[in-house]
Amino acid sequence: MRKVIRKSFILKIGVIAFFTLIMFFLMFLLINKGRTDPEAIAQTLKYDSFADFIISNIGGIFAAGIIGILIIAIIRTAFFSQRFRGPVYKFRDAIQKIEDGNLDTILDPSKNSEYFSMFEDFNQMIYSIDKRFKTIKKALEYLEKTKDKLSEVTPENEKENSSIQKYKNDLEKYILKIKENLQNMTLLPGERIPRVLVIGGGGREHTICAMACRSRLVDVVYASPGNAGIDQIATIADIDMKPPFDNLIEFVKNENIDLTIVGPEQPLVDGITDIFRKNDLVIFGPSKKGAKIEGSKAYAKHIMEKYGIPTGAYSEFNNFDEACSYLKETTAPYVIKADGLAAGKGVVITSDMNEAVNTLRSFMLEDKFGSAGKKVIIEEYLDGEEASILAFVDQNTIKPLPASQDHKRAYENDEGPNTGGMGAYAPAPVVTPELMEKIQNQILDPMLKAFKKEGIDYRGILYAGLIIKNNELKVIEFNCRFGDPETQAVLPLLKTDLIEIIWNTANNQLDNIKIEHLDKSAICVVLASGGYPGSYEKGKPISGIDTENENIEIFHAGTSKDEEGSFITSGGRVLGVTAVNDTLKKAVKNAYSAISSIEFEGMHFRKDIAKRALKNQSAGEIFPWKLPRKKTR
Ligand code: AMP
Ligand code: GLY
Repeated sequence: MRKVIRKSFILKIGVIAFFTLIMFFLMFLLINKGRTDPEAIAQTLKYDSFADFIISNIGGIFAAGIIGILIIAIIRTAFFSQRFRGPVYKFRDAIQKIEDGNLDTILDPSKNSEYFSMFEDFNQMIYSIDKRFKTIKKALEYLEKTKDKLSEVTPENEKENSSIQKYKNDLEKYILKIKENLQNMTLLPGERIPRVLVIGGGGREHTICAMACRSRLVDVVYASPGNAGIDQIATIADIDMKPPFDNLIEFVKNENIDLTIVGPEQPLVDGITDIFRKNDLVIFGPSKKGAKIEGSKAYAKHIMEKYGIPTGAYSEFNNFDEACSYLKETTAPYVIKADGLAAGKGVVITSDMNEAVNTLRSFMLEDKFGSAGKKVIIEEYLDGEEASILAFVDQNTIKPLPASQDHKRAYENDEGPNTGGMGAYAPAPVVTPELMEKIQNQILDPMLKAFKKEGIDYRGILYAGLIIKNNELKVIEFNCRFGDPETQAVLPLLKTDLIEIIWNTANNQLDNIKIEHLDKSAICVVLASGGYPGSYEKGKPISGIDTENENIEIFHAGTSKDEEGSFITSGGRVLGVTAVNDTLKKAVKNAYSAISSIEFEGMHFRKDIAKRALKNQSAGEIFPWKLPRKKTR
């Protein structure tokens, strides 16, 4: 193992020295008009000897060496880093080929150069594998021992030759173990995640892309479908996202994407992660079975009941008449929820019985949300203050981010219709450290247990929407992904590299990473199109988003560009203006002052984001905060 390190270190020094010498040589050639004799060079430069020249210019030589190293680093990053595939990736490809029945893969490359051989760089492989998991090392040793035997396997002798058959059977067993282990991969020191794909095109995804650009592990960020803001920092890819995701898988394989991060719920509910994992690709998000926690509100309620997680009382209905009679037995306000996904519009709360019955009719009989509204749940009305908890979850661990608070209603003082969210701030002081402990004990830990017991492969974000009253908690909903706009306020507070956390979560290594946060507050105010959450016009020119304020980041949600390349509106929620500062009060001031110069026809936003929490904040020093930009290639 040590040999491998030393070999690559010596190689690096050698390459650097080689390029530095070439640079010197070229410099001398230039000054000396083609003459290469060192003494002649020294004389041209008016030194007594070549040695005198070297001694007198030691500083310059050193500087030239540094410049040489920099040039090499730039060339390396520009041309090679994206194409770098570590041993594990080669290994992954090789395993796939063996699985496909191509045993040539494990033969000696000198005998069969057409295929990648696992033994091409055996030492490197062992080094990389050894650190990760013993099973693979054992399997590799086995493969090395048996490669001659395996090379004898042909379709003709395979059936008759029992010893060869035994080797093949053993091999299959090992391959199975290897594949299981490939889902549990830690990053080794120095290893990177050069190419990342973010699926989605809202403010949440713009935030994730910005954090990926900031990551020291990442070279290139792709996004699909993205938006005009994301286009400024990532490469937009036009990929068909419909199940069974064939085009997407092809794209990820062709572009050597190391990690795919899923933003919205729909692809998760459609089973995107199961398909990726079948293809041995690393993806962040729960399995289809796990995503049902958001895909079916009735299912979420069953899980909460079964595992003793506090939530409001409810009943579920597939029949309109039965739902109406139940309504009449309960008291207002009535809370009616479509069972399936309804783009954040499937919850109606009303005290008017007629409106409640009409809601049931539109959901259950008039197919307002198609099959998603055929089943409804009618829930007890829960009074209290809301909070959102975003927690990273893998198969062994669950770790929450700081609590945030969304503002779901369209207008100030929580009036008007429900929206996807008009703004958020974090940390939300309503969630005290004591309450956070309760959340861990009463909600997060039981959910982790539920995932284990139900055989759910959940590796992603669990979003718990809570109602808090008198220090008591109740879950109003679970989502299977980052919340929006909460993400725009919570992620910028991360001190730890988001991509590293996500990689660890996707590979069941969440326990091995400490998640640290800035000791600051963040607010995101959503600027929406006139008419949102109802119908609205698109294509309105947007001005004033080039802010110089260090504390501000403007995340795009519904934007595109017109023919001249200027930003125009293209969605209901258009922009998320995020500010981070030492205190919430300062962040709020920053955000609203940035908004005062932004304009588009019909723009509306809530002026009371974080108002509820402000009384709990004290003044503090202004901290310059900005997500650094990184160019993509
Ligand atoms: P959901 O999509 O389930 O998060 O619901 C959207 C919003 O409706 C929530 O953020 C709450 O503001 C509100 N809500 C949902 N369920 C209830 C409930 N049982 N009682 C009071 N408000 C609720
Ligand atoms: N902000 C609410 C959600 O993401 O569902």
